[in-house]
Amino acid sequence: MNHTIGKYGYLLAALAFSAVLLTGCGAKQEEPKVVIENPKYLNETEAPAFEKTPAETVSAAAAKPDEAPAAQAPKEEPAPEPAPIDAGNSRAQSEEAKALVVRASSMQSYDHAEGEDAPAVSVVDDNLLLLINKTHPLSSDYKADDLQTVAKFTAGVGTDETHQMRRVAAEALQRLFEGAEKDGYDIRLRTGYRSYSYQSTLYNNYVKNNGKEAADRFSAQPGESEHQTGLCCDVGVTGVSLTGFNTRDEAVWIAAHAHEYGFILRYPEGKEDITGYMYESWHIRYVGEVIAKEIFEQGLTLEEYLGVTD
Ligand code: DAL
Ligand code: ZN
Repeated sequence: MNHTIGKYGYLLAALAFSAVLLTGCGAKQEEPKVVIENPKYLNETEAPAFEKTPAETVSAAAAKPDEAPAAQAPKEEPAPEPAPIDAGNSRAQSEEAKALVVRASSMQSYDHAEGEDAPAVSVVDDNLLLLINKTHPLSSDYKADDLQTVAKFTAGVGTDETHQMRRVAAEALQRLFEGAEKDGYDIRLRTGYRSYSYQSTLYNNYVKNNGKEAADRFSAQPGESEHQTGLCCDVGVTGVSLTGFNTRDEAVWIAAHAHEYGFILRYPEGKEDITGYMYESWHIRYVGEVIAKEIFEQGLTLEEYLGVTD
């Protein structure tokens, strides 16, 4: 009896081994993961819902840049026509800054492209004052043609594609990182450029985990994120979560020095009613040194500076 079991045992083992060889399941297939952003936001009194279901990762397949955007919840109302930049209403002070705002107002034009549910900016060129927000969207197919990789990034966050920015912004960021290093801070890129489809995946993931109302306070819907311009980025410190940056000395350094390199803090504290987003100590936007200095010194948002606050 034992002898019989032993014989069948060997037979079964041999069959199982062959099956493993044939199917290839002997080599464990790990699903590739890509770390995105940490939606676990702030403290309980401000945003309790955000603590519900933190999701640090999505599958690489889900974040594939070429994938068709996931379905969006239909907007309740038709998108209004974007308010134009009114140079006469801007807070530009120097003659150089005033001229740049006039130029930006003439360059920020909208097309109603087929398939788009709202008029959107499709041409950016060298308009570094491009305004992208919830009421001033970017066309879904816009992609800058001068994206380049930023070498210094926080390991494990983002993808090769999101480690890029437009050339002028990438070079300025490199100078900013060197300035921070001189002061003893190792500040790095988290994510720069995000395609429309990447932003779509990110936003849908946040909605799934936190609910739409909460997500809309810290994540842009695809087309409404200035990350798609390649002119902004989230910075951070290796090993520190996105929101963990808020309480770091590096965040104080960024708030004090980013403008010296042409960047502004795009979502300052207490300006959610204007920008549409909660305070983000890590999100900086390149506008060039002349404008960044004026925005910094007056303590404004880009919307206020450009005179577009409705
Ligand atoms: N967190 C900013 C608002 C974005 O998603 O673009
Ligand atoms: Zn950002």
